[in-house]
Amino acid sequence: MAEHTEPRHFLTLLDLSRKELYQLIRRATQLKESWNNGEIYEPLKNRTLGMIFEKSSTRTRVSFEAGMAQFGGHAIFLSPRDTQLGRGEPIDDSARVLSRMVDCVMIRTFEQDDLERFARFSRVPVINGLTDMYHPLQLLADMQTWFEHRGDIAGRTVLWVGDGNNMCHSYINAARQFDFRLRIACPVGYEPSAEVLAPAADRCEIVRDVMQAASGADLIVTDVWASMGQEGEQDQRAQLFAGYQVNDRLMAQASPDALFMHCLPAHRGEEVTASVIDHANSVVWDEAENRMHSQKALLEFLLTRPGRR
Ligand code: CP
Ligand code: NVA
Repeated sequence: MAEHTEPRHFLTLLDLSRKELYQLIRRATQLKESWNNGEIYEPLKNRTLGMIFEKSSTRTRVSFEAGMAQFGGHAIFLSPRDTQLGRGEPIDDSARVLSRMVDCVMIRTFEQDDLERFARFSRVPVINGLTDMYHPLQLLADMQTWFEHRGDIAGRTVLWVGDGNNMCHSYINAARQFDFRLRIACPVGYEPSAEVLAPAADRCEIVRDVMQAASGADLIVTDVWASMGQEGEQDQRAQLFAGYQVNDRLMAQASPDALFMHCLPAHRGEEVTASVIDHANSVVWDEAENRMHSQKALLEFLLTRPGRR
């Protein structure tokens, strides 16, 4: 049996050091260039990624499957509908079993606690593919996209508009790791978790007036008003969030070359207008593409470290 060292996990952006994150972003761009140049690089030949999806996905699933194929490896899609996980096999047992077969596990689920529990019982690295609390993979892609368009983000001003949700929490963690200022414009009652915000209080602030919050911003980011699992609140949220739409008037408050990002899927006419998402300063398609390149960099980092097979 291969020598066993404790696996590194990626459950939040804080699991990697600042230095590791910067290296990973640089590596993502190198891997992108190399792939676009037609170079074959297969560091994960014969290796397998297990992907547990308890929520829907287009980007996360396809970027991991394509990325593993490009690396010479394989990805397995696992849904609770047709695995024993959906019939109540305990998380601990599932983690023990799966991690004896695959080299890495990605999980998209509801509770961050379930993800952490799986990681505690796993022999192999576990990656957060989105929970109700965080979406750190999206931040790898967003930071890569920013760096490719504008260079370092340290000292810049980012505006998060809308729900204080999983993406907002990961932006707060990114503000700590990448050293940018984050303004959060959200309706009363939809603030990010105080626990996530408190350690970042020196660089993050909640601003109620969204126009004022956009003033001079370098990057404006938003997300859906009702996340997966909140579909029943859609109508109520649509009313409450109506004043938090990213539109041309809001973008006009920001710095003239401000970028727009959205993790997608987006609802044109709700959280963002078509004019903004389809504008030249919108980098949403680069963000989506960079999911694949940054996740390849993450897989390489987690799976080819000394001591891992
Ligand atoms: N942004 C994102 O995670 O997209 P999917 O839900 O399609 O994976
Ligand atoms: N906040 C959204 C992100 C989707 C990628 C959700 O959790 O549904």
